[in-house]
Amino acid sequence: MDLVRSDDLPAELRYIKYEHGLEAQYLPAIRSLISKDLSEPYSIYVYRYFLCQWAHLCFMALHPSDSSLIGVIVCKLEVHSAHAPPTRRGYIAMLAVASPFRGHGVATALVKKAIEAMAKRSADEIVLEREETNTPAMRLYERLGFLRSKKLHRYYLNGNSAYRLVLPLKALDLDASPDYYGDDVV
Ligand SMILES: CC(C)(COP(=O)(O)OP(=O)(O)OC[C@H]1O[C@@H](n2cnc3c(N)ncnc32)[C@H](O)[C@@H]1OP(=O)(O)O)[C@@H](O)C(=O)NCCC(=O)NCCS
Repeated sequence: MDLVRSDDLPAELRYIKYEHGLEAQYLPAIRSLISKDLSEPYSIYVYRYFLCQWAHLCFMALHPSDSSLIGVIVCKLEVHSAHAPPTRRGYIAMLAVASPFRGHGVATALVKKAIEAMAKRSADEIVLEREETNTPAMRLYERLGFLRSKKLHRYYLNGNSAYRLVLPLKALDLDASPDYYGDDVV
C-alpha cells in the first residue's frame, strides 16, 4: 500500500493510492460515497473501468482509527491522437468527501495528489465536467487553477448544465485545441 502524506493536510487522516488488492475492502464504500451526491448513479462497470486501468491515478482519504473511507478521487489519463500534436489528457471523473469531513481541505488534497500523479505521467492538461450549480466543486477547482473552457447546456439528465474545466499543465498551441480554448464560455 502506497502511503501518501503531506504537511498541509489534516494530520489525522491517511491518504493512500488505490490498488487492485483493495477492491473488496473499498469498492462498496467508494460507490456508496460517490453515489450519495450523484444525480445519475453509475454502474459497477463504470467504477471498474476507471479503477482497474488507472488505479495509480485514484486516491483515498481514510480515517486513522478504523481505515474507513472519508474521501476519494477517480481519474484517467489517455492520449488523444486526433489532436496535432497528440494530447495526453488527464480526466477527473469522480470526487467526493463524506459530509462530516467537508471544509477541511480533504478534496483539495485529493485533487492535488491526482494533479501531481498525472503531471508526473506527462499529462498536457487535465479536464473535467462539473454541474453548473455545484458551487463548492466549482470554487475548489477554480482555486486550484482550473479554467472554464466550455458550457455544456443541459448536460445532465436532470436538465442541469455543466462547465468543462481545464487545467493546462504545459504550454499548448491554442490553435490546435479550439475545443478547449474557444470563445464559447458564457
Ligand atoms: C465538492 C467536495 C468534494 C468538496 O470537498 P471538501 O473536502 O469539503 O473540499 P475542501 O475542504 O478541500 O474545500 C472546501 C473549502 O474548505 C476550505 N478549507 C478549509 N480548510 C482547508 C484546508 N486545510 N486546506 C484547504 N482548504 C481548506 C477551502 O478553502 C474551501 O473553501 P472554498 O469554499 O472557498 O472553496 C464535497 O463538497 C463533496 O463531496 N460534494 C459532493 C460530491 C461532489 O459534488 N463532488 C464534486 C463533483 S463530482
